Amino acid sequence: MGLLTGDALLPVAMAMAVFLLLVDLMYRRQRWAARYPPGPMPWPGLGNLLQLDFRNMLECCRKLRGRFGDVFSLQLVWKPVVVLNGLAAVREALVSHSEDTADRPPMPIYEHLGIGQRSQGVILAHYGPTWRELRRFSVSTLRNFGLGKKSLEQWVTEEATCLCAAFAAHDGHPFSPNALLNKAVCNVISSLVYGRRFEYEDPLLGRLLGLLEDTVKEDSGIVPQVLNAVPILLRIPGLPGKVFPKQKAFMDLLDELLTEHRSTWDPAQPPRDLTDTFLAEVEKAKGSPESSFSDENLRLVVADLFSAGMVTTSTTLAWALLLMILHPDVQRHVQQEIDEVIGQGRRPEMGDQARMPFTNAVIHEVQRFADIAPLGFPHMTSRDTEVQGFLIPKGTTLIPNLSSVLKDETVWEKPLQFYPGHFLDSEGRFVKQEAFMPFSAGRRTCLGEPLARMELFLFFTCLLQRFSFSVPEGQPRPSDYAPFGALVSPSPYQLCTQHR
Ligand code: HEM
Repeated sequence: MGLLTGDALLPVAMAMAVFLLLVDLMYRRQRWAARYPPGPMPWPGLGNLLQLDFRNMLECCRKLRGRFGDVFSLQLVWKPVVVLNGLAAVREALVSHSEDTADRPPMPIYEHLGIGQRSQGVILAHYGPTWRELRRFSVSTLRNFGLGKKSLEQWVTEEATCLCAAFAAHDGHPFSPNALLNKAVCNVISSLVYGRRFEYEDPLLGRLLGLLEDTVKEDSGIVPQVLNAVPILLRIPGLPGKVFPKQKAFMDLLDELLTEHRSTWDPAQPPRDLTDTFLAEVEKAKGSPESSFSDENLRLVVADLFSAGMVTTSTTLAWALLLMILHPDVQRHVQQEIDEVIGQGRRPEMGDQARMPFTNAVIHEVQRFADIAPLGFPHMTSRDTEVQGFLIPKGTTLIPNLSSVLKDETVWEKPLQFYPGHFLDSEGRFVKQEAFMPFSAGRRTCLGEPLARMELFLFFTCLLQRFSFSVPEGQPRPSDYAPFGALVSPSPYQLCTQHR
């Protein structure tokens, strides 16, 4: 008790303060190293935490880039962070030094979901054998799977037909397309993972989608940043469950679906879907403790595919329809190409894409303009690395500002406008652009890109083959401005459909 009296408290407090200052000094030392990227001066014990607006990090990055240049540093409490801006810096870090920048920083806020040393899934996995094995498995399953009896393309085409039917049911009345787009895209992931789709009215689908949206909200703002930077706070009993209740509920729902799926698995039959294929690998791996094929990793890979593959694709489709009602001339041009190449007598197929340069350019421009993941996903250096002449030490978190590449003024003719001409040459042929990086670049580039491209093309062309979209009469023209978020969705809008 005597220890807590006023007399003894002062020296203890002073010793603590000196200790914290020394720790702070130790972490800030690297700022003084030669060629460390410049950045705003961090405050003792807090770093730049209070100098940043986590609700609009993109604007913060734009201002800091103006002051410090394309490669600048931040400190989140004691965590060193470097932000990369513009095509040259992002390409040099993620592509030229892909081996050294492919790690992920630790994210302790997800540990309560079961992420640990040997169970990391794909997205959050450290760059190493577990990540390599699970990424290879996911890529090859996505590429090769004739899921059960159907190819992935057939699943997407059939889902597009259901989506068109649901649009038609609105019978020309104005509606917001977001919920239906979410359901259709969620069904594609569900087909891949569980070999089944849900009816759009199924309450289970509604629950899954609601939780997915809520988890995105839980991941944004300053609280997750603080907890990741000071993980000791997560030891407070019950705190993770209180701060991230939806993440836990989402995992619980996926676990339920997995348990149900597992009960109907017959190893003697050909795999019906990704889960069956994974379960077969788990069986094969029994007795080899170093394998990544475990029940824990199965649930994390499934969660990764739902969380990375659902909202991203449906948000892009919501942007595509918004941009079509805002640019009716572009919409008409796409429909003309659909009529010439596909006609009205059959459904669009992936094979049509190569003969539809304008539509392809429009979809690329939608992704460039919508810029839905403006700050990508954090990487971490696994070695001291040089970028644009700056030295970035091992263990530094890297934030690739993808938005600064997709809107890079030195590359794009009209960076802030929706302009499909960015992807067309003077003859109207489709041209690839190096700065087109909505899926990021390098070793960690989005592994779902082929599936996302397939969904964007098939859903978009199926919808425009059957309908023309417009701003509902009497309603104001919706805005194509959207505030910053970890994932940027268009502001809510309604559209009208007319049968073609
Ligand atoms: C328009 C749709 C999509 C966009 C814009 C998108 C974008 C991204 C971005 C920016 C990253 C971070 C890459 C990095 O760390 O540098 C990423 C990673 C990832 N994406 Fe996508 N994505 C989309 C669709 C999908 C789909 C459909 C799936 C799967 C079904 C998927 C699965 C993943 C996974 C698993 C990762 C982590 C890769 C790794 O860490 O190795 N994504 N995506």
